[in-house]
Amino acid sequence: KRRIAVMTSGGDAPGMNGAVRAVVRMSIARGCESYAILEGYDGLVQGGDMIREMKWEDVRDWLSKGGTLIGTARCAEFRERPGRLKAAHNLILKGIDAIVICGGDGSLTGADTFRKEWPGLLDELVKTGVCKNEQVEPYRHLNIVGLVGSIDNDMSSTDATIGCYSSLTRICQAVDFIDATAFSHQRAFVIEVMGRHCGWLALMAGVSTGADFIYIPESPPGTDWQDQMCKVIGKHREMGKRKTIVIVAEGAHDTELNKISPSAVKDVLSIRLKLDTRVTTLGHVQRGGAACAYDRMLSTLQGVEAVDAVLTATPDTPSPIISIVENKISRKPLLEAVRLTQEVTDAIEAKDFDKAMGLRDNE
Ligand code: F6P
Repeated sequence: KRRIAVMTSGGDAPGMNGAVRAVVRMSIARGCESYAILEGYDGLVQGGDMIREMKWEDVRDWLSKGGTLIGTARCAEFRERPGRLKAAHNLILKGIDAIVICGGDGSLTGADTFRKEWPGLLDELVKTGVCKNEQVEPYRHLNIVGLVGSIDNDMSSTDATIGCYSSLTRICQAVDFIDATAFSHQRAFVIEVMGRHCGWLALMAGVSTGADFIYIPESPPGTDWQDQMCKVIGKHREMGKRKTIVIVAEGAHDTELNKISPSAVKDVLSIRLKLDTRVTTLGHVQRGGAACAYDRMLSTLQGVEAVDAVLTATPDTPSPIISIVENKISRKPLLEAVRLTQEVTDAIEAKDFDKAMGLRDNE
């Protein structure tokens, strides 16, 4: 029987549990044994009880739960070869040669490196006497399949990452709550949202809540952003608006890459427009809570596809990520997706914002 392991890595995201549930149950349904690697790459390096067999009922009721019930971590040891050697040994001890990983681009790139090194790691285990040749021989090829789990929706080659719509829903709820108090006092609120280098959450939250102004890294305002914002918001107030909402992505900056902080935005609104202004940083509230319907559906369909990708892979198939493009679940080469994602960050750093926006449009 083949043994397929599932693991979550990097920042947690709503829908990760749905992905684990789908991988576990689909593995069993396809006649394989299912294993969970606890605490991300930490568990893979530690081995033993951290790599645990999963039964059908172990994932009962996991679909809606936020966070990741099998734990996650950002592991330094796995970034070095000795850590990866330990990880390879632990997998051989359990007879596992396929891992489905739900995480962000960093976690998935690490997994692909591991796959490339795998034959060399096995040779080293044999050469140093840690394993016997006959012990490693049945597991010569390691399958890696990525599920993109992140609230940021920052990965190229897929329209949505697992978790991004739950996070967007949470942000919209929070802005609605703030709207009520802002309206009552005729106040302005500057709301910082997560997303790292990606403005998707801020942009979509702005569209979904009718915010007055937003700041995102891919399409920054010039160094005169204060004037631009005051003009728009001043006009909204003249038209009788009682409240003002400005959404700032945590990675926001101007065209010269000077950070635009929520407190700087607050100062401009208070001093120049004389608005009674407050700052709200939504923080990790955006990452918690139940997964929305879309993330439950996405994680389930993608988990099923991931198991199929494991079972149909040949030694020459490049490691895939499971994506969703125009509402269809598909497979894309992992390394190409990572490269395209990095290109956006590079374009922003090179101040080529047209390119950054173009790349995001094509994602
Ligand atoms: O990648 C998800 C994310 O929530 C980002 O939006 C944010 O920048 C980062 O993780 C926060 O990381 P931590 O939970 O380690 O503070």
